[in-house]
Amino acid sequence: MIPMLSKNSVSMRDPKRVEQILTSMRNAGPSTLQVISDFDMTLTRFAHNGKRCPTSHNILDNSKLISEDCKAKLKNLLDTYYPIEIDSTRSVEEKLPLMVEWWTKAHELLVQQKISKDHLALAVRESEAMLRDGYQQFFDHLHQISVPLLIFSAGIGDVLEEVIRQAGVFHPNVKVFSNYMDFDESGVLQAFKGELIHIYNKREGALLNTEHFKELQSRYNVLLLGDSLGDLNMADGVMNLQNVLKIGYLNDKVDERRESYLKSYDIILEKDETMDVPNAILFYIT
Ligand code: C5P
Ligand code: MG
Repeated sequence: MIPMLSKNSVSMRDPKRVEQILTSMRNAGPSTLQVISDFDMTLTRFAHNGKRCPTSHNILDNSKLISEDCKAKLKNLLDTYYPIEIDSTRSVEEKLPLMVEWWTKAHELLVQQKISKDHLALAVRESEAMLRDGYQQFFDHLHQISVPLLIFSAGIGDVLEEVIRQAGVFHPNVKVFSNYMDFDESGVLQAFKGELIHIYNKREGALLNTEHFKELQSRYNVLLLGDSLGDLNMADGVMNLQNVLKIGYLNDKVDERRESYLKSYDIILEKDETMDVPNAILFYIT
């Protein structure tokens, strides 16, 4: 029904079910749709020309705003905890406290760096962050048809907003839930605001934002995009949920993780650096 779903990178546990969901969403129309997407490694590229692209945290970690000493410490944290994040042999229960530890230590280090709000835009401009190919069509189309896009990220809100602003796609239909920086009166980072969002508490994060989902209660169909198994809970706050189609980017440790991704996502995209499939689906259902 959608030729793009025959692309090499696509796998589905149950193509018939995907077809049913797509038909139901198409019949219900764009006024019933909302899109909920993760940011890092879902809307942004995982790699480009064989080189890893940065997450919103890494944009800062690698920037001129961080001292060499602190960079080494942040790199050390990444080398310690990222392999745990993607380790399919450990349970969520085992990984959760370690992930909290990673985010907490990294945020403490960032706060020590006296980062100035005014320098964030330059750090993003000088970074190697890249949205996936086809991002413009994705954001512009959702804007044109007035479908809300919620970006739900365990990254850094101020940084990711700047990425989409500089790409020219921070349209009014885009809303972000993320970790936001708290600046003092002279514009220097002093803390992070509110409850920490890490990869395994997106459910709790969603449930804290009932007001947002209340406003969107007539939009009972959800297209969900993620790259981590923790992203599967991003739609848990949606009211009157009727259909949810979950698309998962499988970027890293593909062979080890394929089975668990196939079990929990409706469509998986293996080593696919584009928005081709989400775009084709959006054009089909709207
Ligand atoms: O936007 P998203 O929810 O995907 O952001 C979370 C990602 O940020 C994680 O997948 C993790 O690899 C990455 N991260 C990082 N540096 C940290 C903490 C998390 O790059 N200090
Ligand atoms: Mg992600």
